Amino acid sequence: MDTKRIAAERAVDYIQDGMVVGLGTGSTAYWAIQKLGLKVQEGLRIKAIATSIQSEELARELGVSLVSFSEMNEIDITIDGADEVDQELNLIKGGGGALLREKIVAAASKQLIVIVDESKLVKRLGAFPLPVEIVPFGHEVTIKKLYDLGCEPRLRQINNETYITDNSNYIVDCHFGHIEDPQQLHNKLNLIPGVVDNGLFVNMTSRVVVGYQGGEISELEK
Ligand code: A5P
Repeated sequence: MDTKRIAAERAVDYIQDGMVVGLGTGSTAYWAIQKLGLKVQEGLRIKAIATSIQSEELARELGVSLVSFSEMNEIDITIDGADEVDQELNLIKGGGGALLREKIVAAASKQLIVIVDESKLVKRLGAFPLPVEIVPFGHEVTIKKLYDLGCEPRLRQINNETYITDNSNYIVDCHFGHIEDPQQLHNKLNLIPGVVDNGLFVNMTSRVVVGYQGGEISELEK
C-alpha cells in the first residue's frame, strides 16, 4: 500500500476551482502534484506556487499554471509533507532541504494541509534531526552556536559535497533528541546570526491527512 500516495490524493480533494495552491516538496508532495496535474488536465482551473525548483519543474511538466508572489499575495491551500508531526500538529520539516521556501509559502497560506504516512506521527518532536538553513559565510561559527544550544550539529553533505539549497545556503542537521518546547527552540535558533530559518513549523498546520498500511486514511485537525 502506498501510504504516502493515499494521503496525498485525499488532500487534493480540498482543492477547488479558482484556488491559488501551494505545492510542497518531497516524496509525499510528489503524489499530490501528480494528482493535481491530472485534475488540471481534466479541467480544474488553479494557479500554483511551488516550494522548490524540483516541484516547480514537476508542476510545469504536468501543465499546472505557476504564479509568483509578484502576481498574488495570498495562497488558499498549501499541501506539503513533513518529517515529524506531534500531537499539537507542530512539525519538523526540511529533510528534503526545502524548509525555507516551504515556510514562506506556508506562512502566506490560509490553510496548510500536511500529508504523511503513519510513521511520521510522534508524541514529541526531535528524534528526526532538525534541519536548519544557514548562510555559507561564517558557517563554522554559526555551527558552533548551534552546538551551544545543546545539539549535535552536522553540516549536510551529499556525495561528499556540501549540500546547497535552492537559496544557495547550507543545511545543518541538528540532533536534539526530544524537543521540549518547539516554539522556544524555534525562536532561539532564529536569533543566531547566520541562521536563515529552521525546520520547526509551530502552530502553522490546519489539517493533517495520514495514510496507513491497511489503506485507511485519517484526518487530524487542531
Ligand atoms: C522537504 O524539505 C521536506 O520538508 C519534506 O516535506 C519532508 O522532508 C517530507 O518528505 P517526504 O514526503 O519525502 O517524506
